[in-house]
Amino acid sequence: MSEQQHRHKSGFETRAIHAGYEPDPTTGAVIPPIYATSTYKQDGVGGLRGGYEYSRSANPTRTALEGNIAALEDGERGFAFASGLAAEDTLVRSVCRPGDHVVIPDDAYGGTFRLFDKVEKVWGLEHSPAAVSDVDEVAAAIRPGETTLVWVETPTNPLLNVGDIAALAGVAHDAGALLVVDNTFASPYLQQPLTLGADVVVHSTTKYCGGHSDVVGGALVVRDLELAEKVGFHQNAMGAVAGPFDSWLTLRGLKTLAVRMDRHCDNAERVVDFLTSHPKVGEVIYPGLETHPGHEVAQRQMKRYGGMVSFRVTGGEKHALQVCERTEVFTLGESLGGVESLIEHPGRMTHASVAGTDLEVPADLVRISVGIETADDLVADLERALG
Ligand SMILES: Cc1ncc(COP(=O)(O)O)c(C=O)c1O
Repeated sequence: MSEQQHRHKSGFETRAIHAGYEPDPTTGAVIPPIYATSTYKQDGVGGLRGGYEYSRSANPTRTALEGNIAALEDGERGFAFASGLAAEDTLVRSVCRPGDHVVIPDDAYGGTFRLFDKVEKVWGLEHSPAAVSDVDEVAAAIRPGETTLVWVETPTNPLLNVGDIAALAGVAHDAGALLVVDNTFASPYLQQPLTLGADVVVHSTTKYCGGHSDVVGGALVVRDLELAEKVGFHQNAMGAVAGPFDSWLTLRGLKTLAVRMDRHCDNAERVVDFLTSHPKVGEVIYPGLETHPGHEVAQRQMKRYGGMVSFRVTGGEKHALQVCERTEVFTLGESLGGVESLIEHPGRMTHASVAGTDLEVPADLVRISVGIETADDLVADLERALG
């Protein structure tokens, strides 16, 4: 089957395994080699083989990853970066100019908030936070003529709020802005924002896409070719590209995304069942729960509800910190989306950079990334840690 057919006709799992790469014509290698080369021999001046000239501009291992993630998000072009934040910065400077304005989630990932608040702001880009779960609030935060991007995460990190992608796209487009969806938490297996009207998908591929906590990376996927031109220009001009080794690891991770995600979801559902009936847990936040305010929207736009669960303990911050320090199967650490379960205290760890701002998270909140270990072991570990 040709590359084009894989991209547009095959099922998700087939695309995950085949899109972006045809077995090497010389050796038949079924997996893209790690092209550890910075430059390429030219057949006469300007005589490039397959367009490869210099590895900041393009590298075949990165090309394979970019084709693969574009196919998984049902986009036209994918771009791979050295980290999620590098992808975000490249996108912002591809589309925005000093004096522009962006709307960001009022509970954005701390690093994304810091990027807008401490880096892009100095460069002249204004931002306003709004709740992604409230389309009217997002609409009210838009400044017509100035807002170039409406940026959402759904589900958000760490409060797992859900934004209605189709409705938010409508609001953004009415104001002449682009809708950017950070799809890191859902992954393309559970949600494809471009098919719901978003203009750009952002990933920290460090998380579910890579899936094994062994590589840091980021990606952008777009449908519009004019926008792709701008992003491609800036990817090369700014230079924060994914290297060939990192691209290879991320591509290997993507091949098993579907099976991993299903197990993440199975295990998260088991853990949620346990936590919701535990006397020391005040609130369990998971979009799969019917009581979650975004459940109906999540049901509409997601295949399942993911492996991220947040919960508030009844004993305040002290107890939340104790729980994080007592688990043995859940590893205390930042990040998420790997095969191993992780636990963290957002207020002191991933979201410390939003302390004292409107985006501050509750002190009694614990966030877990439910891995794909034996579900009984995960439940027993949390039971022990809750005391
Ligand atoms: C939702 C989300 N977006 C973006 C990022 C930034 O990605 P990276 O750490 O790969 O730069 C993260 C990192 O945790 C994240 O959780």
